[in-house]
Amino acid sequence: MLCQEEADFDLEDRSKAATPLTDEASRAYLADPSVLHWVAAAEGLVVGHMSCCLIRKRAGDLVEVLLYEMGVRGQYRRRGVGRTLLGALNDWMAAHQVKEVWVVADNPAAVAFYQSAGFKKAPEDAAVYMSR
Ligand SMILES: CC(C)(COP(=O)(O)OP(=O)(O)OC[C@H]1O[C@@H](n2cnc3c(N)ncnc32)[C@H](O)[C@@H]1OP(=O)(O)O)[C@@H](O)C(=O)NCCC(=O)NCCS
Repeated sequence: MLCQEEADFDLEDRSKAATPLTDEASRAYLADPSVLHWVAAAEGLVVGHMSCCLIRKRAGDLVEVLLYEMGVRGQYRRRGVGRTLLGALNDWMAAHQVKEVWVVADNPAAVAFYQSAGFKKAPEDAAVYMSR
C-alpha cells in the first residue's frame, strides 16, 4: 500500500509509486532486527510512517539510529502524526538504551519539524551528503 501511494507521503511531485517487495523480501525486511518501521493509522488508513536503521558501532555506544525515511499523508500533516511517530522512536530508544538518532533532512519543512523535536543542525562544514 505504501508503495502504491508513495506520492501522498512525500513532497508534491517528488515521489511516484514504487515497486513493492515480493512476499519473501517483505518477510526478510520485517524479520531484520536492524530495521525499525512504524506506521501511524487513523480512520482505518495508514496516515504516516517512519523507517529507521540500527547502526552497529565499532566503539563507544553499541548502536545508533539512522532515521532513514518519514512521511505523513498530505491531508494529515500538522496534526501531530510526525510528532507521535518520533515519540514512538524516543520510547524505543529509551527502552533499548540507545542515545543517538540522526537524520538527513532534505527540505525546509522537514528541518523545521526535526528542530521542533530537538534535533540540532550540524555545523555547515561538518558533512557533505553524497551518493552514487
Ligand atoms: C516532515 C513531516 C513528516 C512532518 O509531519 P507532520 O505530521 O506534519 O508533523 P507534526 O504535525 O507532528 O508537526 C510537529 C511540529 O513540527 C513542526 N512542523 C511540522 N511541519 C512543519 C512545517 N511545514 N513548517 C514548519 N514547522 C513544521 C511544527 O513545530 C509542528 O508543531 P505545530 O504544528 O504544533 O506547530 C511531513 O511534513 C511530511 O511527510 N513531509 C513530506 C515528506 C518529508 O519531507 N519527509 C521527511 C524527509 S527528511
